[in-house]
Amino acid sequence: MREVWELLKGKDLISLHDLSTDEIEEILSLGSELKALQKAGVQHHLLEGKTLGMIFEKASTRTRVSFETGMFQLGGQALFLSDKELQIGRGEPIEDTARVMSRYLDGVMIRTFAHENILNFAKWADVPVINGLTDLLHPCQVLADLMTIREHLGKNLKGLKLAYIGDGNNMANSLMYGCAKMGMNFMAATPKGYEPDNEVFENAKKDAKATGSLLMLTHEPADAARDADVLYTDVWVSMGEEAEREKRRRDLAGYQINRGILQFASKRAIVMHCLPAHRGEEIAADVFEDNADVIFDEAENRLHAQKAVMALLMGD
Ligand code: CP
Ligand code: NVA
Repeated sequence: MREVWELLKGKDLISLHDLSTDEIEEILSLGSELKALQKAGVQHHLLEGKTLGMIFEKASTRTRVSFETGMFQLGGQALFLSDKELQIGRGEPIEDTARVMSRYLDGVMIRTFAHENILNFAKWADVPVINGLTDLLHPCQVLADLMTIREHLGKNLKGLKLAYIGDGNNMANSLMYGCAKMGMNFMAATPKGYEPDNEVFENAKKDAKATGSLLMLTHEPADAARDADVLYTDVWVSMGEEAEREKRRRDLAGYQINRGILQFASKRAIVMHCLPAHRGEEIAADVFEDNADVIFDEAENRLHAQKAVMALLMGD
């Protein structure tokens, strides 16, 4: 454990592809430990006196509240920084913003559009940079998801099948990385033209070779759902894609998680959603409510998993 603490210290968390399986395991187990401490009312001020900056260029409920509360519970503080109020929104270059912020802060979390923005920020920053979602990836959500799967289906993730049904977006990409690292089998069912990112698929295949995980893509939801232990979906219209709303709703219409699709899954299958959800689009209202315990555990685990990430990256 000591070694992993040292390994992650000072690093960025931009993609799960950059982490080893052991590092992910360490985040998940520290997340569970911190969850137990918080539930028991035991203080765990691992980041006393530290400040996290949180730059948001997109809306957020869970990410903002969980990071901010998490820093407080770790004895530090978090600053909410909207691009609308930062000079970055008026054209100050990322490389200058990153160097300035590194002089004040102990870590920066960013939610932005182009993935290159966060890579560029991290290149110029001297403090850990955490990906709070880009158009390409959402790694913190997947850490919370893995923690939730362990809680509901048991600690051994290896060999479980996760079926992703819907748009091959940032969630699909990050889940593919997460499954590949943990030896889980992953199958995404998307319409043609909505497949997960090809470069992510190629990278994940390399990770999968090392862990024995199988990664598959299909256009047939029933094939993905067959014998799946976890069914996962996300919105059809991600932030920034609002202009395509009608076309996306038409193209993705057959890719809903509903009771019909659930018939193909394992009897003990759980249904997951990163939220926000659109009932009647990517998920049927009854299936959402039947699985509300899991879905809101997922949301809660954002807090615990991210506290582990911050403690490991930013702790002394
Ligand atoms: N799942 C998630 O990241 O939610 P927010 O967009 O509300 O942060
Ligand atoms: N794919 C969604 C995830 C929201 C948490 C989006 O990017 O808007």
